[in-house]
Amino acid sequence: MGWNDFWAEIFRVKHRRAIQGIQYYDRLVVDFCIRVMSIKKDHEILDIACGSGDQSIEFAKQGIKVTAFDISDTLIAVAKESARNSGVSVDFSVGDMRAMSFTQQFNAAVLLSHSFGFFNHEVNTKVLKDTFVALKKGGKLLLDLMNPYNLPRFQKTWTELEGGYLLSEPHLMDAPAGVLRGRPAVFVDTVDDRVVLMDEDALSNNDIRMYTALEIHAMLTEAGFKKVEFYGQNTLPRMQYSASSERMVVVATK
Ligand SMILES: C[S@@+](CC[C@H](N)C(=O)[O-])C[C@H]1O[C@@H](n2cnc3c(N)ncnc32)[C@H](O)[C@@H]1O
Repeated sequence: MGWNDFWAEIFRVKHRRAIQGIQYYDRLVVDFCIRVMSIKKDHEILDIACGSGDQSIEFAKQGIKVTAFDISDTLIAVAKESARNSGVSVDFSVGDMRAMSFTQQFNAAVLLSHSFGFFNHEVNTKVLKDTFVALKKGGKLLLDLMNPYNLPRFQKTWTELEGGYLLSEPHLMDAPAGVLRGRPAVFVDTVDDRVVLMDEDALSNNDIRMYTALEIHAMLTEAGFKKVEFYGQNTLPRMQYSASSERMVVVATK
């Protein structure tokens, strides 16, 4: 049982929807993206690794044309249904960020909720290069990342979700490898009366290579971006990035 069928739905749909105020938070993040990337109503935006599509739908509600994809077909099915229920149109599809083939189509691209760094360094760099190609001249890419100098204090948590309880262990930072290791989890399924453990496949799917600002800057420059800016939070007002910032938000201009 891999990421795509079971855990994607637990974490990105059931767990996400159980977070208090998440819709309000999504609106704040989307407002921030629109402002810092100067997105206009007729602009086209690419939401890479869109998950259950909540932010894509928020962008669409603002009159922006959105193309969004995720590797999980379960999440894309949820995203399509949410868009229908919200009365907006988003071009959702199943896709892999390692195999993007867009050319000069978008005014902006986003990778939200730290959806960057899942692969080895070469492949992570390729994702940035392919995103560069996907953007129009002057287009902007926004990466909303955890701050590697101020990681959240991950806790072991029990959360009551629809159909059961989720036990989530804290992420561990593997400093020599520069990788934030996926968090082991257990789901106590009270409907089918069973306990589901996260397997190796799903666990390794959650490993994230953490980059510093200098490293990201170098990778984006190598990809061809002209200007790279950093912000310390993913909501307005714009905050300067520092070692103690809540997030590391990167905005790169083609
Ligand atoms: C942390 S979640 C973020 C989802 C969404 N951007 C959000 O902010 O809620 C990371 C997402 O990346 C997706 N993902 C993982 N590997 C991917 C790949 N190779 N190509 C596209 N999406 C991928 C996962 O399915 C998951 O939905």
